[in-house]
Amino acid sequence: MNNSKKLERLNEEVARLYTLSLVAKQVHWNMKGQNFLSIHQLLDTLATELRDIADETAERSSALGSVPEISPHTLVAQSFAGNVPSGKVSTEEAAKYFREVLGDEIDSLVELAKTISDSDPITQDICIASARKLSKLQWLFQSHGL
Ligand SMILES: [Fe+2]
Repeated sequence: MNNSKKLERLNEEVARLYTLSLVAKQVHWNMKGQNFLSIHQLLDTLATELRDIADETAERSSALGSVPEISPHTLVAQSFAGNVPSGKVSTEEAAKYFREVLGDEIDSLVELAKTISDSDPITQDICIASARKLSKLQWLFQSHGL
């Protein structure tokens, strides 16, 4: 993967991670049902973690000479957040949605890390570390058994 393609992919990840953090907050506010408090708190943890991962990814991209953006226009154009739950969301719907989108995001980060390979071990490490953090959060959603 050449350098400009790598930076483009990193910036796509920034937009996706940031969008998912916004969705996590929306669902955190608009959810009801079984295990409410536990999932409500987990969504707050997820929103913060996603924002922190997006921040580290954006800073790496900027350090490599790119211009990562998260303007509303950029988020709409570049992000993919799946079939975002809207309105009042059951805890089951919330857990299912985040299990799936976190799985997609983990796969995307791991794939990016593989294509970066040994040419840029620092960026590769950021991608793998981010996937590892999201994998733990995905497990926490799965463990509710909803
Ligand atoms: Fe809150």
